Amino acid sequence: MTSQAPGRIASAADRTVCRVAVMGWGSYAPARVLTNRDLERMVATTHEWIVERTGMRERRVAAEHEATSDLATLAAQRALQTANVAPAEVDMILVATITPDYPFPNTACLVQSRLGCSRAFCFGLEAACSGFLYGMEIARAAVATGGVRTALVIGAEKMTSILDWQDRTTCVLFGDGAGAVVLQPAPAGRRGIISTVLGSDGSLADLLMMPAGGSRHPATAATVAARQHFLKMRGREVFRHAVQHMCEAAREALSKAGVKIQDVRWIIPHQANLRIISAISERLGCPMDRFVVNVERYGNTSAASIGLALDEAVRDGRIRDGDVVLMVAFGAGFTWGATVLEWGAK
Ligand code: COA
Repeated sequence: MTSQAPGRIASAADRTVCRVAVMGWGSYAPARVLTNRDLERMVATTHEWIVERTGMRERRVAAEHEATSDLATLAAQRALQTANVAPAEVDMILVATITPDYPFPNTACLVQSRLGCSRAFCFGLEAACSGFLYGMEIARAAVATGGVRTALVIGAEKMTSILDWQDRTTCVLFGDGAGAVVLQPAPAGRRGIISTVLGSDGSLADLLMMPAGGSRHPATAATVAARQHFLKMRGREVFRHAVQHMCEAAREALSKAGVKIQDVRWIIPHQANLRIISAISERLGCPMDRFVVNVERYGNTSAASIGLALDEAVRDGRIRDGDVVLMVAFGAGFTWGATVLEWGAK
């Protein structure tokens, strides 16, 4: 193997394939809590309706001065700490988000500067609620082929910055937060990430989107007046597709990994709605007590949700060395994905 500049992708001739593991994890949720009762004072809704239809009780809201890169930086610092990795060792930073600080430059560059990861190359990824799993797979491939040794993947969102606080059908569903992982070659004898499947269907893009602010409808006084800079969703249709694609992706990833659902200790689903999670549990034939669920406390934090749930479940001792973990996501685009891994960073 020839020596290479830090952070550069190796040439094809240099490539070797290795197993890749999650070596660090961290998350951050803003301090401010917005309860269902608070929402009752803002739109025509009730605590009971929200709990019954979504399982959500409260969500976090970033402070006005906090942007997505601030949430991402704090989660990343914690992930680097658990991995025992210095900022200078990071080769690549990927931030998955639909709420970047700016249209450009990308949020990962802003995080790089805050962390002091001076030799990393940095970019953003937009796959909505599937962004964390998309990011993990891109980073896994980069590490597996030897071009990158240490990759930092962050899912971070300030969803409250794109919510229409006059639309009760969406504003009660989302919250802010960030989750991060450090990926590196797996320690000897560890399986690390075993399989991933990703998929998309752009023909259904209209069901969940933000209509204006991009090149099709740049911001004008008219787009602002028409409330086109907010998330729009046809919830019932999205629900159906979410259940179907998350189940299919989960089955496909398990089959690719050669793992039976009975052998999965923990499933970490994207936290969109407790009813979606229950439907997946039923269809996969896997009891709810094997699902990591925190949707009641955070709502849907989009690209942050799986990283946030993973960090909590590892820190409180639920996920242990040797556990097989299945992560599964679905989001706007539509996009979806599932990853099977064996936990263990030592
Ligand atoms: N409070 C009170 N009533 C509400 C409400 C709220 N916050 N939001 C909607 N309603 C009303 C609707 O207006 C509708 O009233 P109507 O029958 O008089 O028209 C009624 O509740 C039922 O609406 P519906 O959309 O059919 O409810 P639902 O059971 O499908 O639940 C969602 C709505 C959004 C919770 C559900 O569809 C969902 O979770 N979808 C998927 C969303 C998602 O996960 N998106 C992200 C994917 S990554």
